Amino acid sequence: MIPRQTVDKIIESARIEDIVGEFVTLKKRGVNLIGNCPFHNEKTPSFTVSPSKNIYKCFGCGKAGTPVNFVMTHLSLSYSDGLKWLANKYGIEVIEKETTPEEIQQRNERESLLIVMTFAQRYYNEVMHNTDEGKSIGLSYLTERGLTSVIIEKFGLGYSLNEKKSFTKAAINKGYLPDYLVKTGMAIVSKNFIEGTLVTEKDIFDRYNARVMFPIHDEGGRVVGFGGRILGNDKKTAKYINSPGTELYSKNKILYGLWFAKKSIQQTDKVFLVEGYMDVIAMHQSGYENVVASSGTSLTVDQIKALKRFTNNIVVLYDGDAAGQNAMARAIPMLLEDGMNVRLLFFPDNDDPDSYSRKVSNTEFVNYVETKTEDFLIYQARKLNSEFKNDPIKRAGVIKEIIENIALIPDTIIRSIYVKECAQIMDLQEQILQNEINKLILKAKNKNQKTISEPINVEEAPTFENVKPEPKTENTKISFEAEEKKIIELLVAYGNVYIQNVTIQTDDSNDEKAKVENIDITLGEYIRLDFNADGICFENPTYETIYEAYQQELHDGNMPDLNFFKNHANQTISNFVIEHIINVPSLSNNYEKKFEISTPKEINNLNEVVFKTLLSYKEKKIRQYISDCNDMLKEEYDKTIVNAEILEKLIYLNEKKVQVNKKLGRTVTK
Ligand code: CTP
Ligand code: MN
Repeated sequence: MIPRQTVDKIIESARIEDIVGEFVTLKKRGVNLIGNCPFHNEKTPSFTVSPSKNIYKCFGCGKAGTPVNFVMTHLSLSYSDGLKWLANKYGIEVIEKETTPEEIQQRNERESLLIVMTFAQRYYNEVMHNTDEGKSIGLSYLTERGLTSVIIEKFGLGYSLNEKKSFTKAAINKGYLPDYLVKTGMAIVSKNFIEGTLVTEKDIFDRYNARVMFPIHDEGGRVVGFGGRILGNDKKTAKYINSPGTELYSKNKILYGLWFAKKSIQQTDKVFLVEGYMDVIAMHQSGYENVVASSGTSLTVDQIKALKRFTNNIVVLYDGDAAGQNAMARAIPMLLEDGMNVRLLFFPDNDDPDSYSRKVSNTEFVNYVETKTEDFLIYQARKLNSEFKNDPIKRAGVIKEIIENIALIPDTIIRSIYVKECAQIMDLQEQILQNEINKLILKAKNKNQKTISEPINVEEAPTFENVKPEPKTENTKISFEAEEKKIIELLVAYGNVYIQNVTIQTDDSNDEKAKVENIDITLGEYIRLDFNADGICFENPTYETIYEAYQQELHDGNMPDLNFFKNHANQTISNFVIEHIINVPSLSNNYEKKFEISTPKEINNLNEVVFKTLLSYKEKKIRQYISDCNDMLKEEYDKTIVNAEILEKLIYLNEKKVQVNKKLGRTVTK
């Protein structure tokens, strides 16, 4: 448990623009900042950050929240882990209140797995530095490959001993459950293990033996997986062993190096995409930090999505070999389709960034990177004019590829620039090229439509004839939404404001002589008294949750204010408050309008606003009850027994209705 004061301090320190800015490139737009939403795929940014309100909101997918909500959602953390993540960032010390055994039990599995991974990273690093085998084999391998000790530590590299169980034993000694070692992928269960039984030490052994270890970090900087490389070049053994898919690690989503690259990608507005672990590290050592690797998988949409939050400009550095070329051919259309500006860089012979950087001086390397990067189109055109110059069939194939790629570019202006350039390169008429591209775009559109409409069976598809009208119910359902929302708004915004000289009926009877007092109470307490007196509760479950939380906080002796709701651990509450109260209907103006500019006016006649709202809410409730009663009377069965009771209730309700309406200044005809 994090003490209340620490929670407050964290919440006060966390700046939404800092936090979101770590994961999304933000540009100024008026008083707000705007970027590509990390929660859904989008081509034009609609993800808005408001520094003054300290919240974010995506107008595309609707997600909204505070700094804590952001890290919780984005890094899949619990509320208390989200707070701890922020505390760590802002250098706030968290001394937790003693954790009870129940709380330890409640700690989710994910957290335990992350702890195991942190342990593993430290373990392999220590083994590399502090054992003979580690030093003479692991460390010397890395040093021979030209890595400095600074870079080795930056990336947290390590070494796994040539023993079957060294890590497993160390981890179990430390108290980590064998089951967690398996679930992190750090240990493998033996063939003899019987599924469904408890995993014990004898059932498991290390996944990695005699390999240099590359920890893989997620975007929040936590170790979630490993790549382990054999020493030397034994063609028979897999060169790299990677973590299997686990609760923490999914190879399709993670980009190796992103944690170290984020800042630099934002600063340079450009990212280098390479193939391997060593390429990322070598690039860093050559002075390029804006580099990530897809690590042995072909680039995925999730990986592109992760990059697009930071930049639209990508330089792909793949090996010049056939495998590299093929990977490139697959990656280019995906990147173009997502609106990325794609440039390419090939290294001579069969070098990759790592091997080339070791072959030449640093100046030469930097010079190569800066001058040899070329547009994807130029690269394809070059292929057309050199390699395939005299092969018409292959030439046609390349032309088709180029046209297909251009057709994928979503931005019409950029696309037309490419058409122009391409026409020149290929010596074609621009109009002809444009026509071909238009055909492709149309075809793609039709294809998309088909896949949407195909599954619908024509006979079942709704037509004007076969749509039956909703059966009309006798019961008129009255909507309480507007009043309930208004009451919650008042409660959240002004619950702690005192309203004066309030008349309270301290006795619940309808007796005229019921005791009446004139007192000053807070608006929140007033609403509570009024609700309790009439036994009302909210129809909308979200409002009920907010109301309950409010009561609980009052009960605990605190006076809840707007921030209490905004930062509430229950996401339903904080989301609702941000979405509908602070944020209505647009981020930029309404909060000020509602709570700052118009506040004085509303506060002046707060009494009246509250009374009117509560009364008209009650009036509606009464009307609903009356209509329910009338419906019951109309029912065919049980007439004799129930009717008397219902009639009595109806009379009572009608009286109430007159009273309430009189207070509202309305006259009602019975
Ligand atoms: N890879 C993998 N498993 C393999 C081979 C490769 O996961 N058996 C992944 C690794 O992430 C590797 C990348 O694919 O870094 C590129 O592979 P490759 O070019 O073969 O290796 P290099 O990165 O050049 O590795 P090294 O320089 O250490 O030989
Ligand atoms: Mn290499």
